[in-house]
Amino acid sequence: MDKVLVTGGLGFIGSHTVVELQNEGYEVVIIDDLSNSSAEVLEGIEAITGIRPLFEQIDLKEKLDVENFFVRHSDIKGVIHFAASKAVGESVKEPLLYYENNISTLVYVLKELKKLPSAAFIFSSSCTVYGQADELPITENAPVKAAESPYGNTKQIGEEIIKDTCKIAPNLKAIALRYFNPIGAHKSVKIGELPIGVPQNLVPFITQTAIGLRDELSIFGDDYPTPDGTCIRDYIHVVDLAKAHVIALGRLLQGKNKSNYETFNLGTGKGSSVLEVVKSFEKVSGKKLNYKIVGRREGDIISAYADTNKANDDLGWKTELSLDEAMRSAWEWEQKVRG
Ligand code: UFG
Repeated sequence: MDKVLVTGGLGFIGSHTVVELQNEGYEVVIIDDLSNSSAEVLEGIEAITGIRPLFEQIDLKEKLDVENFFVRHSDIKGVIHFAASKAVGESVKEPLLYYENNISTLVYVLKELKKLPSAAFIFSSSCTVYGQADELPITENAPVKAAESPYGNTKQIGEEIIKDTCKIAPNLKAIALRYFNPIGAHKSVKIGELPIGVPQNLVPFITQTAIGLRDELSIFGDDYPTPDGTCIRDYIHVVDLAKAHVIALGRLLQGKNKSNYETFNLGTGKGSSVLEVVKSFEKVSGKKLNYKIVGRREGDIISAYADTNKANDDLGWKTELSLDEAMRSAWEWEQKVRG
């Protein structure tokens, strides 16, 4: 079976994708620098799949190490590139760190892929490239808006770099997957999200509040022009998201792609408000959540959810898991981590 490199494979989405790749029979090599993850995640992956993936602790900013890796693994057929920094607020304070971590690493990996006889490349992009879209649900043809943060900019620039490279490298085929809001954990409760410090994202903040690590959730604004006044997002179960990567990779390896560079939205197509997410949590956990409404968070868009037609029809993928299932798995994971 084909050998696949997963960069950032010990992170939240990366680890779930490694599980799905191994379930489909791929041979996986993980590169991770452990800056925002732990080697213990390997135990979780092994416990679920019965296979311990190869792991190399490499910092992709070290160009020579990247070159040497591909000399050792010249039989790699595909790369799923998760390795990146992802905190929006931090990126505003440390833009150069984000450009170096997210852009230089991408360039070094693509340079090596250009040398291979053929290579499939899957890129972690984000619905952040659309900003506040004028029309909902958001299709892949919606205009890319000026980025709100250096983090968002690295996703836009990353897509451009890949598109430009595909134009001149006939051996390279790529897909950018634009994620909406990934949440949840594997049903085995052996892998999940491990945020370091105070979580910035809604769902880990909810579960940490319920477990007693945080006093209360602050809901950022209830005066938006939405049915209940809180912001709307498209929350997608991380296992559904992981499966989309395996399908996208197979599409490229089997030559089913329509062009050498494609983009797909990965979402459920259903928008949920912050209060609906809180209600879902309370329902599946049986716990009352302590929360208060505070002012709006700077930079938040009002509403974003995916048009899933292209992913459903062209990619042949759709989500199977509900918001409740995602919230239940997130809660079970939190209890296990803190238990
Ligand atoms: N929210 C709260 N309280 C919190 C945290 C979040 O009310 O403590 C609200 C936010 O205001 C927003 C919603 O919950 O309305 C979701 O917020 P997240 O921070 O979980 O997610 P975002 O949609 O803001 O951001 C996510 C990713 C970013 C990415 C962005 C767009 O975290 O990396 O989607 O792709 F840039």
